[in-house]
Amino acid sequence: MSTHTEKNRQVADNMSKTYKTQFEKSLKILYRVVQEKRLWASDTWIDTEAGQGKEIKMLDYACGPGTVSTALAPFATKVIGVDLADGMIDEYNSSAREAGFADKMVGHKGDLLADSIPEMFLGPEYSDFDVVFVSMAFHHFEKPDLAMKRLAERLKKGGACLIIDFLPHGRLDHNASDLLTHFQEATDTIMTHGFTREDMRKLYEAAGVGVRFDFQVIEEPLEFEKNGMKFSKTIFIARGQRE
Ligand SMILES: C[S@@+](CC[C@H](N)C(=O)[O-])C[C@H]1O[C@@H](n2cnc3c(N)ncnc32)[C@H](O)[C@@H]1O
Repeated sequence: MSTHTEKNRQVADNMSKTYKTQFEKSLKILYRVVQEKRLWASDTWIDTEAGQGKEIKMLDYACGPGTVSTALAPFATKVIGVDLADGMIDEYNSSAREAGFADKMVGHKGDLLADSIPEMFLGPEYSDFDVVFVSMAFHHFEKPDLAMKRLAERLKKGGACLIIDFLPHGRLDHNASDLLTHFQEATDTIMTHGFTREDMRKLYEAAGVGVRFDFQVIEEPLEFEKNGMKFSKTIFIARGQRE
């Protein structure tokens, strides 16, 4: 594991127990955005014509405690979360139990972006996904272009790739310059300080998931607090399908 990835693992492990309470407000917004954009993201769910009677598999990569998974589990038959940090996977699996989805939502520790991938992730369970979702994690990845390719390969033809992340600068951001100081440890884990529509379009096209690419800025900013200060950042959601 590279030094950067190991740092991400450590920081996420340290934050895992308090993540859901510390970012409660942001996670509520993410949950709502994901549900509102579901049919724009993909037309294949258990309650849509395209998904009728089919197995609908979703990968929530860098899943953290599973906000995206719990929002979409009612509309899929199988949801798999993968994250670097053991603590996040514990939180993910307890979110699955609390939400009543333990029968179809399961998290495993792993790094699907590494040079050598453990045997268990090479089997059919980890391929041919209808949807691959990465929420609030792309800015942490050491090589975003390689990450995009690795994740795109796990989609079935026509499957949808979804990314939620920060814009470089949002009109509604506040305290942006203090953010790095107050989140010092997490700052060291960030590789890219936000993505534009054009950055995303290039990543999607280069990875072969540029079909019907679209990108929407979310009007409501993510808000969070640290050391008594309030921060807000503008996020986007991007989608594209595998060729
Ligand atoms: C800010 S959290 C986002 C968690 C969740 N997706 C959400 O939206 O709340 C970033 C997560 O990315 C994970 N992560 C960072 N780099 C990763 C990698 N290379 N592979 C898997 N997970 C990674 C961290 O362990 C952490 O749980």
